[in-house]
Amino acid sequence: MCRPGNVLKIKNKRRPRRADGVDLRIPIHLAVIMDGNGRWAGKRGLPRTAGHRAGAENLENICKACIEQGIQYLTVYAFSTENWSRPAEEVDTLMDLFIEFIHRFDTKMAREGIRLRFAGDLAGLPSRLQSIIARAEETSRHRDRLQLIIAINYGGRRELAQACRKLAEQVQSGQIEPDSIDENLIRSVLYLSDVPDPDLIIRPSGEQRLSNFLIWQSAYSEFWFSDVLWPDFDRKHLLAALKAYTLRDRRFGGVKQI
Ligand code: IPE
Ligand code: IPE
Ligand code: MG
Repeated sequence: MCRPGNVLKIKNKRRPRRADGVDLRIPIHLAVIMDGNGRWAGKRGLPRTAGHRAGAENLENICKACIEQGIQYLTVYAFSTENWSRPAEEVDTLMDLFIEFIHRFDTKMAREGIRLRFAGDLAGLPSRLQSIIARAEETSRHRDRLQLIIAINYGGRRELAQACRKLAEQVQSGQIEPDSIDENLIRSVLYLSDVPDPDLIIRPSGEQRLSNFLIWQSAYSEFWFSDVLWPDFDRKHLLAALKAYTLRDRRFGGVKQI
């Protein structure tokens, strides 16, 4: 992912949008930690997997709302490198759900112009899921209204460890000198180095932590937390987050612009 403002094609045109009388400033890149599926199901006496299904369905609505608002990149945290520690039955159901979702989403979202991309240690996923991921990335490559990035088997620490390994290999093969390693070079070996850093990170479900999400890329992100569980997180919650973001003063270490 690259610096804010270093944006590639702008197809999802930015128009002034309003919420509660406020002209919204729209983030180029929004990231969401889709948390609270299990608790959502538990409150209804349903198995946790029913919560994951409801959460996956909700993603379709939020994608449409992001397109409406002119957001260009939406990264969603779907499965962390730590989530393998869950009971095998839950993990297996999640892997099946990802296959089903990507398959369905790929066809359904074609008309919405959504490009699907994936960030994470994809080699660690079941091989069937890996093939579906590769196909979805390929078939949606030309779509340009919204880039939906699914972080799956993703861990910020894993991403940095893999980046270090790639740079070490480049040093070993004589492609680069150790002295040339700087922030830009590190960025160039992250999973999706062309994607700008997230401007805003939303975490629903009441937790206020990153849980190993985008630890490099979030250096200057704004954060917005909500107690709503992900399957219930809808357009109005998104607009509330965008309104709060609009009122933030992003200084990037500089001084306030008057
Ligand atoms: C997020 O919901 C989905 C994944 C981590 C796969 P959770 O399953 O963490 O739901 P809670 O936090 O237990 O409610
Ligand atoms: C973070 O949620 C990962 C995803 C939403 C995919 P977790 O539920 O795994 O995070 P913790 O365990 O509460 O930190
Ligand atoms: Mg959770």
